[in-house]
Amino acid sequence: MVGHSNPQVAEAVARQMATLPTTNILHQSDTLIAYCSRLAGLMPEGLTKVAVLAGGGDAIEAAIKLAMRVTGRTEVLSLHGAYHGMSLATMSLAGIASDRSWLPGAVRWPTFRQVPNADTYRNPLGDGAWEASARALSSALDGGYRQVAAFVMEIVQGPNGHVLFPPGYYDAVQRACRERGVLLIVDEIQTGMARCGATWACDLFGVKPDMLVAGKALGAGVPIGVLAARADLVDDAIESEPWNILTFMNQPLAAAAGLAVLDVVEQQDLANRARALGSRATEHFRQLSDRFEVIGDVRGPGLFVGIDYVRDLRTKEPATSACADAWVFAAQRGLLCQFGGIGGNVLKFKPPLTTPDEDFGRMLDLVDEVTEFIADRGRESRRRDDRGADPPGDRQRRCCAQGRGRGAVRRDKGERAPQRHQPVPSLRRCIPGAVLAPVPSANHSRQRPAPGAGDADRDRGGRVRRRLASAAPPHSVCRPRLVRPDGRDALP
Ligand SMILES: Cc1ncc(COP(=O)(O)O)c(C=O)c1O
Repeated sequence: MVGHSNPQVAEAVARQMATLPTTNILHQSDTLIAYCSRLAGLMPEGLTKVAVLAGGGDAIEAAIKLAMRVTGRTEVLSLHGAYHGMSLATMSLAGIASDRSWLPGAVRWPTFRQVPNADTYRNPLGDGAWEASARALSSALDGGYRQVAAFVMEIVQGPNGHVLFPPGYYDAVQRACRERGVLLIVDEIQTGMARCGATWACDLFGVKPDMLVAGKALGAGVPIGVLAARADLVDDAIESEPWNILTFMNQPLAAAAGLAVLDVVEQQDLANRARALGSRATEHFRQLSDRFEVIGDVRGPGLFVGIDYVRDLRTKEPATSACADAWVFAAQRGLLCQFGGIGGNVLKFKPPLTTPDEDFGRMLDLVDEVTEFIADRGRESRRRDDRGADPPGDRQRRCCAQGRGRGAVRRDKGERAPQRHQPVPSLRRCIPGAVLAPVPSANHSRQRPAPGAGDADRDRGGRVRRRLASAAPPHSVCRPRLVRPDGRDALP
């Protein structure tokens, strides 16, 4: 949000580090109190109890626990396409099936369920059918054990590819939750704090949550998650109970970073800047879509723009493999970007809100080049399809190499599933300025076999030979390699 190595934040963090970086969770610090009070003043109406956690997922976990405790109920609903973190509970909220399927049996907390979202571009229940999605939520709230404590939603689904919902849907969701005493937890970990052209994306759609969770850019590099809850939900008894004790919660160092970020946001009027830059980008990409049929949709509020690349405008089939190649092309051209969505086909355009105008113009030009690249790849692939020459598994392999799209692509008959222990590609996204390349053949989950033991294997002549432990690749430890776009190692 405020850019990498923001000098104001760096200075504030250094000052706090030199005075009081950490306290025992039983103690308070002036910096923490100042931060929580200031955040409380910025939150949607009524959310005045604020806790600072070590990450977004931690804050979602805390919100879920609090909701269960205050309602005395055990069920939690989330949306198809949702992403709320990677702890066991937040993974159970995942509406992106491939995220959960990493666990054997795609295990899920038994009282967590997902309901269809109201995607404005690819609605799972049919075009323009957000009412059907709203009805699906109501019946889910009335079904199951009728024990729903909370409904968790992103205002715009970031990891799912900047998926938007129509305004009427937010009204319906709020009504359905209120009527049943179900708490509404809004995840603004990607959309919050000026990014969407308002302090919170909630503000754009008239959403009044019972709890709001934020994180990520709020610390400008310092790990942070924030939970803000309605004050009446956290009474003295709950506050004094040991329900969420984490060493790195409520720490002054994170608060110092957070305060400095709020200063920058206010001093540089970043919410308005996000709105202005966002309209410029959206307009630019819409004009681009007149030239290139691979752009199916351009969407997202403020500077939280998604460009949905498709193979076919009519079917909206994601341009998965072209985008996987485009990601590398973009990095080589100097644009570090990310393609999200379950098809790995939505370019997430969300540069720092402080990006200088000249750099911003350059980014737009580079997106033009990336789009042209995707269009060329699309034409090539159609030619190959026409000749029936698309090698089996080609699409799936490229998709896996790129990221989250792996769940969306049909595997060709007879093609083997990707190796279970491939490094999880979505981890790459957390590395600013560098991409994370898997060490070739490093299989970090595999145990080294005991000396003398080995996998039985057959050579061409049918004889059994032993692959001994000594023949295993030298890297038995997971040592990710950080590679810069120019191919040089980022770490010695
Ligand atoms: C929408 C959303 N919710 C929750 C999380 C989890 O946050 P963290 O990775 O800080 O635990 C993320 C992280 O990508 C996110 O994008």
